[in-house]
Amino acid sequence: MAAAPEPASPARLVVLVSGSGTNLQALLDAVAEHGAAAYGAEVVAVGADRPDIEGLRRAERAGLPTFVERVRDHPTRAAWDAALAEAVAAHRPDLVVSAGFMKIVGADFLARFGGRFINTHPALLPSFPGAHAVGDALAHGVKVTGCTIHFVDAGIDSGPIIAQGVVELREDDDESSLHERIKDVERRLLVEVVGRLARDGYTVKGRKVSIP
Ligand code: GAR
Repeated sequence: MAAAPEPASPARLVVLVSGSGTNLQALLDAVAEHGAAAYGAEVVAVGADRPDIEGLRRAERAGLPTFVERVRDHPTRAAWDAALAEAVAAHRPDLVVSAGFMKIVGADFLARFGGRFINTHPALLPSFPGAHAVGDALAHGVKVTGCTIHFVDAGIDSGPIIAQGVVELREDDDESSLHERIKDVERRLLVEVVGRLARDGYTVKGRKVSIP
């Protein structure tokens, strides 16, 4: 009988965070629940642009290496970007995930990780890019919003879209209640998308992302 093929080794994920890290936690929980081999990916390190955040504490509790690169510790934004790229590269990622990472990366970072750097954003892009997406959508009076997982390009939340999840607004929503419902959908979508990208591979042609 022919030997079963060796399972491909799980994709290495470096996750970048700036805050509470519940999307990171969803990835950690998925790997713990299914096992890295079956899920297709494992988190190998977590980076941040600031210390003392719950996202980093989640990584530490999971026994993962962490790193922090603060913009203010570097002479220029370009120097910060190069240092961040270097810190990420040290963990040899197959995919880099921006999960609530509130900084725009620059040319150095994209030169190294473009095409394998994904971001999750709390709105249905191309509507409401930027750092205040949930409040902007609410202020605009939209009836549906949601989240978008996309590859990062040189623009702000403008790269090719991988997947989107929809959330309906309620009459009494404020920014916090709406963001919590978006994050519920977002965490599930991120886990599903990262697993599929890792297990099945993907192609990006122009703006169109395909997962076989
Ligand atoms: C998520 O909703 C993510 O989409 C958003 O921050 C939240 C992080 O939550 N990101 C942005 O707004 C980026 N512009 P978490 O820290 O609990 O994962």
